[in-house]
Amino acid sequence: MSALRVISVTGGKGGVGKSHLVANLGVLAVQRGLRTVIIDADVGLASVHVLFGLTANLHVGDVLDGAALDEALLTTPEGLALLPAASGERSLTHLEEGQRFALRAVWEQLAERFDVVLIDCPPGLSRDALFSAAAAERVVLVATPEPTSLLDAATLAHALHQQTAIRSLDVVINGTRSERQGQLAYGKLQACSSVAPTPKLSYLGSLPDDHNVRRAAALSRPLVTLAAASPAARAIERLAALLLDGERALENAGGSLLGIERRLREADARRPD
Ligand SMILES: Nc1ncnc2c1ncn2[C@@H]1O[C@H](COP(=O)(O)OP(=O)(O)O)[C@@H](O)[C@H]1O
Ligand SMILES: [Mg+2]
Repeated sequence: MSALRVISVTGGKGGVGKSHLVANLGVLAVQRGLRTVIIDADVGLASVHVLFGLTANLHVGDVLDGAALDEALLTTPEGLALLPAASGERSLTHLEEGQRFALRAVWEQLAERFDVVLIDCPPGLSRDALFSAAAAERVVLVATPEPTSLLDAATLAHALHQQTAIRSLDVVINGTRSERQGQLAYGKLQACSSVAPTPKLSYLGSLPDDHNVRRAAALSRPLVTLAAASPAARAIERLAALLLDGERALENAGGSLLGIERRLREADARRPD
């Protein structure tokens, strides 16, 4: 069995490409022989399971209400497991403390059964957005090169610094026209972090704007299998190699194998109430 990796993907606003990245990282993890589950913690319209052409009958809210976890888990044709987000009136946007505790227990169960847990976080600064990000040992922050997106990302990074135990963030700039545009955008984000402190930022890389991403979404097929040689798919493969291969980064990791619960307690303890 390989060591558990918990990776969250977060962003200051919706529409920056989080779900598309999570879905394809998931497929690449499965291709590496890793048992992988995606936790869709975002209640947005473009749910991760839709990117795979799947329909969710049950979701995490039903599990909290007593449904069996295995009945809620979907499996994509690639063999990737997925826990759908709650939606509609029973969405879990503002969790009660008891619900949050129960949700952690569900996530812990998944962490026991899989090698890789990928969390598609809600965007923004809500308590639940920060809570989802802080459950991971490795936190990927996605932004686009637009100044407003970089500012939103910097604001989120600052909130993560103040309100969670996250010590490092891996930045991905999505939708770039060139490598250089990605590097410049990262530089601007870094400049913001000298104004308001953030966790330690590192640049994981950029993802080019690529029409194949929209084509894959329209066909409900993952980009990395539909168009493995496309520029965006190759860029995601590079990110996957950094996130999944070799020694795992331990900067946000707990002392125990699982540690989600401990990390979240730390995060709670640091919150100014
Ligand atoms: N690199 C890219 N090139 C082209 N289109 C992209 C790229 N990344 C994301 N998109 C498109 O942008 C939209 C938002 O992406 P999505 O992953 O749903 O964002 P989020 O989960 O952050 O809300 C989708 O229509 C997606 O197909
Ligand atoms: Mg999304």
